[in-house]
Amino acid sequence: MSCCRRCGLLVGAVFGAVVAILAGIVYRQMWLFDVQNPAEVLENGSKPIVWEKGPYTYRVRYLAKENITAHDNYTVSYLLPNGAIFEPSMSVGPEEDMVTTLNLAVAGAYSLIPKILHLALERMIKTSNSSLFQRRTVREILWGYTDPMLKTTMGVFSPYNGTYDGDYTVFTGKNDISKVSTIESKLSFWNDTYCDTINGTDATSFPPFVDRNKPLFFFSSDICRSVSADFSSTVDLKGIQVYRFVLPPATFASPTVNPDNQCFCTDKLVTRNCTLAGALDVSSCRGGQ
Ligand SMILES: *[C@@H]1O[C@H](CO)[C@@H](O)[C@H](O)[C@H]1NC(C)=O
Ligand SMILES: *[C@@H]1O[C@H](CO)[C@@H](O)[C@H](O)[C@H]1NC(C)=O
Ligand SMILES: *[C@@H]1O[C@H](CO)[C@@H](O)[C@H](O)[C@H]1NC(C)=O
Ligand SMILES: *[C@@H]1O[C@H](CO)[C@@H](O)[C@H](O)[C@H]1NC(C)=O
Ligand SMILES: *[C@@H]1O[C@H](CO)[C@@H](O)[C@H](O)[C@H]1NC(C)=O
Ligand SMILES: *[C@@H]1O[C@H](CO)[C@@H](O)[C@H](O)[C@H]1NC(C)=O
Ligand SMILES: *[C@@H]1O[C@H](CO)[C@@H](O)[C@H](O)[C@H]1NC(C)=O
Ligand SMILES: *[C@@H]1O[C@H](CO)[C@@H](O)[C@H](O)[C@H]1NC(C)=O
Repeated sequence: MSCCRRCGLLVGAVFGAVVAILAGIVYRQMWLFDVQNPAEVLENGSKPIVWEKGPYTYRVRYLAKENITAHDNYTVSYLLPNGAIFEPSMSVGPEEDMVTTLNLAVAGAYSLIPKILHLALERMIKTSNSSLFQRRTVREILWGYTDPMLKTTMGVFSPYNGTYDGDYTVFTGKNDISKVSTIESKLSFWNDTYCDTINGTDATSFPPFVDRNKPLFFFSSDICRSVSADFSSTVDLKGIQVYRFVLPPATFASPTVNPDNQCFCTDKLVTRNCTLAGALDVSSCRGGQ
């Protein structure tokens, strides 16, 4: 199982990503941290005040699976081509909305560069007029922009178009219908059996007979972890009754609130000793690329 092919730094920029499946169409909804007091945080070390901004909704998974290979043990492997189309009708505003977020380049640089070079790094940050926070459009933060300090493309999901997710090996369900589409591989990313567990499907489909009393497990390669969604309501979609599942707040809560998330907290600096919620550091995949 490969993960984070794009190897972006997902440090605190994205608050939540929810996968919504309506009539077989998969949407990814994003909420961003909009930091209200960047100057105070930088000058006085105040606690960041963040407003959640979103959802910004993208249609994903609309491209057909590629390189499908069937194995003789009731499993099949495939690649998922990545693509995202903005869906204004399901978003709070246009992609051009501005938000103040953690600067991925600056925040990430400190953990990637040896301590001895931090002084040089600080000079680089100054001369490029960068700071720990930056004000950019939603589109730039999610899909990429040229960073003035690193002179490379940065972005939570950059590059995305034209890349692949996978490969996935899933059960066909031929010998057990309840296993249809569930992923059979494990991660070797978080260095922890709990965090490396892949539960459920890739979220493009689920086994039939969804039971609304049970959580729905799926794996999101963007954040490199399994999550579970709980049933929240029944929605009428053009005359069809559909179930709405939502991610419980505990999913992205800090380990102080949800101890299960301890193994996802690998960056003590950015997460302030694992007390900041929603910060998921997937930068260590650089080593494993
Ligand atoms: C930082 O704290 C000092 C002293 O309390 C205050 O005068 C100053 O305005 C604060 N800075 C910001 C950006 O709020
Ligand atoms: C899919 O398979 C073909 C033929 O084996 C190969 O040339 C291509 O590189 C594969 N695609 C990806 C994205 O790996
Ligand atoms: C099924 O076969 C594939 C390809 O040989 C292999 O990668 C996978 O681990 C096998 N799965 C099980 C459950 O045996
Ligand atoms: C990705 O491709 C889709 C569909 O072609 C397009 O709508 C979208 O703007 C592209 N995104 C980026 C960041 O280029
Ligand atoms: C940084 O800001 C200063 C003052 O606003 C300006 O003179 C300088 O050209 C800027 N440098 C870069 C690399 O943008
Ligand atoms: C994984 O965890 C073990 C035991 O906690 C530790 O000894 C090892 O250094 C860790 N490996 C990595 C790559 O973090
Ligand atoms: C995986 O599923 C089990 C129950 O089947 C659950 O207890 C566990 O928390 C899940 N793990 C993750 C990482 O979501
Ligand atoms: C994190 O914890 C260590 C050891 O307990 C402490 O020295 C450090 O100041 C803490 N850092 C932050 C940002 O709270």
